Amino acid sequence: MSTLLESRETATTQAPPSSFTLDVRDLTTTFRTRHGETSAVNGVSFTLEPAKTLAVIGESGSGKSAMLRSIIGINPPSALITGELVMGDRDLLSLGAKERRSVRGRDISMVFQDPLTALDPVYTVGEQLIETIGKANPDMAKGERSARALDLLNLVQIPSPQTRLKAYPSQLSGGMRQRIVIAMAIAGRPQVLLADEPTTALDVTVQARIIRLFRQLQIENQMSIVVVTHDLGVAAELADDVAVMYAGRFVEFGTAEQVLNSPAHPYTEGLIEANVRAGQPDRPMAIGGMPPSLQRIPPGCAFAPRCRYASASCWSGYPQAQHQDDGHWSRCVFAPGQPTD
Ligand SMILES: Nc1ncnc2c1ncn2[C@@H]1O[C@H](COP(=O)(O)OP(=O)(O)OP(=O)(O)O)[C@@H](O)[C@H]1O
Ligand SMILES: [Mg+2]
Repeated sequence: MSTLLESRETATTQAPPSSFTLDVRDLTTTFRTRHGETSAVNGVSFTLEPAKTLAVIGESGSGKSAMLRSIIGINPPSALITGELVMGDRDLLSLGAKERRSVRGRDISMVFQDPLTALDPVYTVGEQLIETIGKANPDMAKGERSARALDLLNLVQIPSPQTRLKAYPSQLSGGMRQRIVIAMAIAGRPQVLLADEPTTALDVTVQARIIRLFRQLQIENQMSIVVVTHDLGVAAELADDVAVMYAGRFVEFGTAEQVLNSPAHPYTEGLIEANVRAGQPDRPMAIGGMPPSLQRIPPGCAFAPRCRYASASCWSGYPQAQHQDDGHWSRCVFAPGQPTD
């Protein structure tokens, strides 16, 4: 079986990758539908340094996938995207369609939340993997591409990889399809990997292996990761920083330790409590109340209607970010600290 060490050897035979910081500035994504406008992402900003991992946590419908899709550039034409996505000396949002496509898979790639949408049912796993490898490495010889495909399947721990290369996606289990999608996403040794719930369908052993593999790729390629996860354990293990998303906004940001051990926003507190309760079958998993409709986000703090601490001041204006310490901030009027904006 191929090992991480073998992959490291392959990696070192190539030119060392240049590393870029990804700067996301005031990103907004609005879907225009027959029923009105959905404000899925509402002014998200963050900086992702090379080899760092940002975990984004938040309830269903908070805009996590829309944000990742906006960064990689695959939202439907109905989506209006504004802001800046600066990588190196380029703003990805100002690139033409052709240039934008050339960024995908090579500079930035994505592990999709639903692995089936990323796989074509009429082609074998091998055909799709080899095509992806070819797109990311146009100069690579055909034979080398097949060897690399096998190597990638070994890396993501697919048993009997030779046989699986000839299989169609429908012939594989959900967990195996998810690992194929991960293999395709890392085929081009991207600078930035956007991973949308990448380990959800995997058992604990394979999940641990994938997390190790991501870490290894960070060391080898200086790859940075934005990982969306419902699993706070995955966030704690993989992430340097954690962002908490609510109604399309980041409401808290800090290191994994700061956010998960000393949450400064009542919503983060709720998510952590819900995660703890999730292990107890007789207790509900969700936070009480419903998130707001993204077609009518209330003024002020969008979490106020569900917040146990809410008072009149919470409805009067969108809360400023309160700076706690060392880059840790929370958009809650009750958070201790100093306003940062
Ligand atoms: N293509 C689209 N057209 C219209 N609305 C969309 C589209 N994609 C997403 N939305 C809406 O944007 C909002 C955010 O959706 P998104 O999929 O980003 O949530 P999420 O945080 O990823 O949730 P989950 O944890 O369930 O995956 C939702 O209200 C959703 O209905
Ligand atoms: Mg999603």
